[in-house]
Amino acid sequence: MKLRARTIRFATLLAASLLAAPVGVIAKASPERTVSPRYDPAHRVFRLDAGDVTYAMGVNTDGILQTIYWGARLPAADPLGPAVPAPERSSFDPAGALTPQEYAGWGGAMTATPALKIRLDDGNRDVVLRYDSYRVDGEHLSILLRDAQAGVAVTLDYTADAATGIIGRSAHIENAGKQALTIDAAASATWNLPRADDYSLRYLTGTWAGEWHLQTRAITPGATVLESRRGSTGDENNPWFAIGRGGEWNEEHGDVWFGALAWSGSWSIRVDEDILGQVRVVGGYNPFDFAYRLKPGETLDTPVFYAGYTRDGIGEASRLLHRFERDRILPGGARAALRPVLYNSWEATEFKVDEPGQERLAEKAAALGVERFVVDDGWFGARDNDHAGLGDWVVNRRKFPNGLKPLIDKVHGLGMSFGLWVEPEMVNRDSDLYRAHPDWVLNFPGRERSEGRHQLVLNLAREDVKAHLLEVLDRLLSENDIQFLKWDYNRNWSEPGWPQMSPDEQQKVYVAYVRNLYDILRQLRARHPKVEIESCSGGGARVDLGIMALTDEVWPSDNTDPSDRLSIQDGFTYAYAPATMMAWVTGSPNWVNNRVSSLDFRFLSSMQGGLGIGANLLDWTPAEEATARGYVAEYKKIRATVQRGSLYRLLSPQERAPWSATESVADDGAQAVLFAFQRQGEEARPFPTLRLRGLDVKARYRFRVMHGKVAPGTPDVASGAYWMQRGIDLVMKGDLQAAGVVFEREGTASHQGVTR
Ligand code: DGJ
Repeated sequence: MKLRARTIRFATLLAASLLAAPVGVIAKASPERTVSPRYDPAHRVFRLDAGDVTYAMGVNTDGILQTIYWGARLPAADPLGPAVPAPERSSFDPAGALTPQEYAGWGGAMTATPALKIRLDDGNRDVVLRYDSYRVDGEHLSILLRDAQAGVAVTLDYTADAATGIIGRSAHIENAGKQALTIDAAASATWNLPRADDYSLRYLTGTWAGEWHLQTRAITPGATVLESRRGSTGDENNPWFAIGRGGEWNEEHGDVWFGALAWSGSWSIRVDEDILGQVRVVGGYNPFDFAYRLKPGETLDTPVFYAGYTRDGIGEASRLLHRFERDRILPGGARAALRPVLYNSWEATEFKVDEPGQERLAEKAAALGVERFVVDDGWFGARDNDHAGLGDWVVNRRKFPNGLKPLIDKVHGLGMSFGLWVEPEMVNRDSDLYRAHPDWVLNFPGRERSEGRHQLVLNLAREDVKAHLLEVLDRLLSENDIQFLKWDYNRNWSEPGWPQMSPDEQQKVYVAYVRNLYDILRQLRARHPKVEIESCSGGGARVDLGIMALTDEVWPSDNTDPSDRLSIQDGFTYAYAPATMMAWVTGSPNWVNNRVSSLDFRFLSSMQGGLGIGANLLDWTPAEEATARGYVAEYKKIRATVQRGSLYRLLSPQERAPWSATESVADDGAQAVLFAFQRQGEEARPFPTLRLRGLDVKARYRFRVMHGKVAPGTPDVASGAYWMQRGIDLVMKGDLQAAGVVFEREGTASHQGVTR
């Protein structure tokens, strides 16, 4: 009886909202990029058409919002809907669980993974979310779902990027009732795929100094959970997935559905397949140890979960993501500066930084053509090793007697910008900050405080901690002429207590910490708009679309061995743009694995991303300096293509394969850059012919070799069609060989980028 009454009320609201639905413009979207969501009232179907993608969902006869279609773009006139709820299959397979719901509450007969699970204070845990109304605001579509009796209202937000077809989804959960409730699980979205039984999943796993391994597994009935329980993004799994059909998907072919979560705290992406071949991807806050209390009128927003589709294989999925990140996520968007060539002191001097030593390195770096000089760990507090100093962001006067100014002036005088390492979220017990505020760290009263690298995690969820960090960092940037911060974060959370809060509010720390981190970054950027920031977490343990929206580049791994890096960088590019991927040339033998490699191999490996140098330049011979100068100059001619072009992974170095090759093509097709590597030369096997991709078939391209050897008989100039069909043969003999070849379209001025 009650249910019927409720349904009538929703219908009334629906009619009212259709009449009222306003159309507006949102700030970030330019008119040509705007996608207007459409609603078909006859069938109660919503439709997003963007890029090569159509996404449709509809309200079924039970009032439930369900996915109708997600795939290749369909003609506007094609009928989609009405949404039909799945029939109950048996008393064990209820309709609620089989219907591909857009955002299911845990309630009714639901047995599949819900997007939302709630406990009301009176003990009720039953939430069934039904359609209420919608609103279109420019490219935003908001759909309101409600369980009026439980007092829960959820607004689903949708955006679609016109260029890539990537859809962003998030949920705004409101306690619209009269009693307090606790959210046990809140996803950003559920993505429902077409029914099939031959899906496979690709995802990224890793560990410190071994991040970004690409994994593939068949999706079968059951669940696969990708997650971090660490308080931050983590490197064990990265919040990215790609799903394809059977064995038919590869770099260039096959249906691929892919997505990435914009969140830098604990997260989960769960891929479920039921016995009928229905695959759901549910992602958002990690439900593990999650509890978010809402008093009447209070709300919780989820992170945005972005996802896309392509028919053209995992290579195109990556290119769409790269473009989307560059245009829509990274600060500055499409107008962002190219990554400058950077020098970093860490591997050269570790904690032994001081004014004369850094000045000597700066002189050497500038002479190579380096554009940004970065002083890493060791410049502050009592920081002579990793036991002390974190938290005390004041210059160590023993190492820099006159502060940082003389060094900064020197660096600027050499024509470089100046950067500094910080790790603001951490504190050593041996620090003035900890001695003054031992209560500022995450902890449970009376329990041990576990250390990682001798440090504890400051509880950024506390407003006083946030205010302190903002003040200290603001002062650092105001008092010193700094252009770049490397923002490090070197451990997981432990004992995540927030004793200042009541027990039932403490677990809000999982959300509040990250939101305050974002807010600090946002405010620092607003106050110091010329300062760029790198996200580093002992390497690549905090890389996600959330942190990327507030940082200009990321550090993928502490592993700088150029051969290991080939796999690390390859894995990284499945999800993230080369424009953000910093890569340093460091010393040989490499500190990680003692591997000896040539300077050519090291440079060519690093030139696939944002080039940096991290070696001790005081050890380099004049011949090595000359080689380095040559590569830095060469890099400046190709970096716009590498950083902003389209990436084609020609040979995969995953699973310790002997070969690796990538090609980047400039957006205007005028330049293509080919990098090729042979880790091991086995049985005198020739290097595979490399067939280029993405060239203009009719144009003619002339190549020049940065390093390496092409096979005798290779023409100097040939058509795009020739290079893509016949390809190019490289001569590689022996271990750790590398080649770099640049193709320039004839009649085109050389493609050079500028940095600021
Ligand atoms: C970890 C980073 O990944 C390194 O590059 C370096 O900055 C150290 N921390 C410094 O402690």
